[in-house]
Amino acid sequence: MRIIAVINQKGGVGKTTTTMNLSHALAQQGYRVLVIDLDPQANLTVGFGAMQKSQPGIADVLIDSLSADDAAIDVRPNLALIPAGDRLGEFEYLRGKGAQYGFLLQKSIRDYQGEKDYILIDCPPTSGILGMNALLAANEVIIPVAGDYFSLHGLSRQMLIFDYVESTLHRQTKKWLVMTRYNERRKLAREVRENVVHYFPNRVLQTSIRETVALAESPAYGKTIFDYRKKNRGADDYRHLADDIIGGRVTN
Ligand SMILES: Nc1ncnc2c1ncn2[C@@H]1O[C@H](COP(=O)(O)OP(=O)(O)OP(=O)(O)O)[C@@H](O)[C@H]1O
Ligand SMILES: [Mg+2]
Repeated sequence: MRIIAVINQKGGVGKTTTTMNLSHALAQQGYRVLVIDLDPQANLTVGFGAMQKSQPGIADVLIDSLSADDAAIDVRPNLALIPAGDRLGEFEYLRGKGAQYGFLLQKSIRDYQGEKDYILIDCPPTSGILGMNALLAANEVIIPVAGDYFSLHGLSRQMLIFDYVESTLHRQTKKWLVMTRYNERRKLAREVRENVVHYFPNRVLQTSIRETVALAESPAYGKTIFDYRKKNRGADDYRHLADDIIGGRVTN
């Protein structure tokens, strides 16, 4: 089972869009997928059209030890979702359980009985306790990078955080980078991609996700790009990205 956290402390880089559409692409290929909404904004839950009043979610798993099996709901064929849950915002402020606090998600995934090929985790744009839980639960990380200058700037900070956590805990996670909101006609976007490939050789997934309005529209209808416009280039890009992840296809 591959457990992949989609992380970048920078906001708006395409974490949720990537988690949602990549997980659906994998499910459509026949893989059994569980996706976890670990962001109090609950964008992923809303994007799948699965938001309901007072529904249990990962908040209850982390705070009240609800089992992940009881929190998961089927949202598409082969695809289950653990919604965020109303209280996820509180979790960031709870204190008092010491270091164990960072391992709660890892433990709940270990106890999870569902048989899955992939677990994807959508993270909030912070480097707090939720992101730490995701990092400690995952064995791989996807870092979406948007094609602008500040994204490049934020990336080195993000990588330093990973290095710090990994050296403190003596563990390694495989890191993949994916260019998102990519506009190939923009010189800056191409330069940012070249820089990222230069600094992180064999880490940048081959497919860049192009800026496409349908990708921004689909969540408003509670749909993934495959539900909304399966012939759109956004669907093509996420289908190809799924193949990159399955086969470890990178740019070198
Ligand atoms: N390839 C794309 N083309 C067009 N719009 C996109 C693309 N990827 C993401 N967007 C849009 O950009 C915005 C930010 O994307 P998204 O919510 O996926 O980012 P995020 O990293 O999850 O944000 P946050 O940090 O707030 O959780 C959204 O409005 C989304 O619809
Ligand atoms: Mg998000």
